Formats: sequence, structure tokens, C-alpha cells
Amino acid sequence: MRDKLEAIKAEALAKIESAEVVSTLNDVKVAILGKKGELTQVLKSMKDVAPEDRPKVGQMVNEARQAIETALDEKTKSINRALRAEKMKRETIDVTLPGVKKLTGHRHPNQIALEDLERVFIGMGYEIVEGPEVEYDKYNFELLNIPANHPAKDEQDTFYVTKDILLRTQTSPVQARIMEKGNLPIRILSPGRVFRADEVDATHSPSFHQVEGLVIDKGITMADLKGTLAQWAKEFFGENTKVKFRPHHFPFTEPSAECDITCFKCGGKGCRVCKGSGWIEILGCGMVHPKVLRDCGIDPEVYSGFAFGIGLERVTLLKYEIDDMRLLYENDMRFLDQF
Ligand code: DAH
Repeated sequence: MRDKLEAIKAEALAKIESAEVVSTLNDVKVAILGKKGELTQVLKSMKDVAPEDRPKVGQMVNEARQAIETALDEKTKSINRALRAEKMKRETIDVTLPGVKKLTGHRHPNQIALEDLERVFIGMGYEIVEGPEVEYDKYNFELLNIPANHPAKDEQDTFYVTKDILLRTQTSPVQARIMEKGNLPIRILSPGRVFRADEVDATHSPSFHQVEGLVIDKGITMADLKGTLAQWAKEFFGENTKVKFRPHHFPFTEPSAECDITCFKCGGKGCRVCKGSGWIEILGCGMVHPKVLRDCGIDPEVYSGFAFGIGLERVTLLKYEIDDMRLLYENDMRFLDQF
């Protein structure tokens, strides 16, 4: 009996000693100390032991049990301690490693230019309004004095959704929409996306942005138009900027003009930016045509007004001396990061 107990104990202790995971220890526990375990079997066979030997054998069984339990306990602790040490090692933070840089977005150059531009006009009391990008022919052309067979319609060939609905070719339809509402006087600025069937090149894109301006009140003259644009040019391009007006034609203004500014790069002497002329063409403008006023429900005998249309990309390219419009749309971070 003694030998048998010694053998069970020795085997158990050896298994415990070599165990690497807690589950092995559990297996040992069940196999030796469990209900059907080896040691339990020995206890059960006590009835075969001579009564006078029983206390002795009982004591031996208890000793073996004790030794095995202690060994199990210690081994469990030591395995857990090792696991914990390893986990700590895995989770240590090396504070000397370089951090992961978070990329913060920022405004697109077009947006920066637009907000600068808006700030000037808001300062003069203008309200910012927006119109739909998908527009009726009526607003994009008809009400702007561009009837069905007008050649200006060809110049602004665009994308038609139906015969009467199209992607707007200009922000000017917002003029008609605002005038039609009849809340006078009007002083608005309307930025937005426009569309034309243009091939992509350094100065063209089938989708670009304009900023429309419209002022209607009693007694508005061309002097107001010139004064307004001269002031904007100074605030936007620099204090020494001058403006020049050249006669032009737009169907919805009369008279119409194109407005040039003195080159902000060379101050008017002539350079690469202004192609040697000293002047840069910047926008179209004019006095709102009496027919347009009338068609939009405003009496041209009482009210008059001016309008202008600025190409946003044009202004952005000039302001930041970017020589290719495509850069604005390519989303190349190396380019965009510079603003
Ligand atoms: N809508 C014109 C264009 O896209 C630009 C323009 C010219 C707007 C004269 C105006 C204006 O408001 O008065 O070519």
C-alpha cells in the first residue's frame, strides 16, 4: 500500500512539475484527486486494510493528498505569474517610438478664395444666396434674354436632363430667381458650381465655379458698379490694384463690360502673369437689361441695377499664381498641402 501511494504521489508530482499550462494541472487534479481519481480509489479500498493499520494508511493518504494539492497550487501560481509577466512585456509602451501623425483637413484653395471674396461683399452689405445646379432653361436662358435660337446658347452648350431642364451654365439664373421674388432692394452674392461641355485643359473644365453679384435699387448707375468692383479689387488683390472697363456684350446687361485689373504681380509694367500687358481680365458685368427687369416683374422705369459674374477658379489661380486649373481638381495632397 505504501509503495502504491508513493508511486501515485511521485507520478503526480512529476506531471505537475512538467506542466506548462493550467489545463494540464486540472487534468492531473481530476485524475488523482477527483471522484474516480487514483488517490480516491485508494481511500475506497480502505475496507480491505486491517483495522489496526487504517489510521496509518489514512495518514499516508492525507499526506500524499496534501503534497499534491500544495504542488498544484504552487504550479498554478507560477504559471499565472509567468503569463502575467509575458503579457506585461507585450503591452509595454515604448515612449521613444515616433507617434502616429493625425492628418487634419483644411480648406481647398478655391474655398479660401471664395471666403475672402465673400467677406469683402458681406462688408458692403451683400447677402449670400444659392441657386440650384440643375436648372430650368427658363432661368438659365429665357429670363436672361437668351431666347431659343440665340448664339450665346451655343457658346454655353451644356448637359441637358430634359428639353427644359439642364445643368446650369452660369450662376446668372440666380439673378432671375431673386428678382422674380420681388423683395426690393436686392443686394446679393451667389457662388456656385456651373457646367459646360468644355474639354479639360489648363484653363477649362466641364465643371467650375462662378460668383454672381446683383444689386437692384432706385437710382443705381454704372458709377455704383465701377465703385463697387474697384473697392473689391483693392481689398481682394491689394491696395494698389486699379480696374479698367472694356465694352463687351452680354444678353442680360446693357451696357455690358469686361473688367480688367492691374496685374498684382508687376503692378502694370507687364510680366509673365499678365502676358506682358499689365492687365488681367477678371470678370463680366453690366447694368441689368430693362427687358430682364421687366420679365422678372420689376419696373425698369423705377428700378435699375448692376450685375457681375466672377470666375472663381480664375481668381484662385491668379491669387495663388497657379498656372494650371487641373491642379485644383486632382486632389493631389502634395499640391493641396501648400495652402
Ligand atoms: N454669366 C456670364 C458668363 O458665364 C458672366 C456674367 C457676365 C455675369 C455679365 C453677369 C454679368 O452677371 O453682368 O459668361
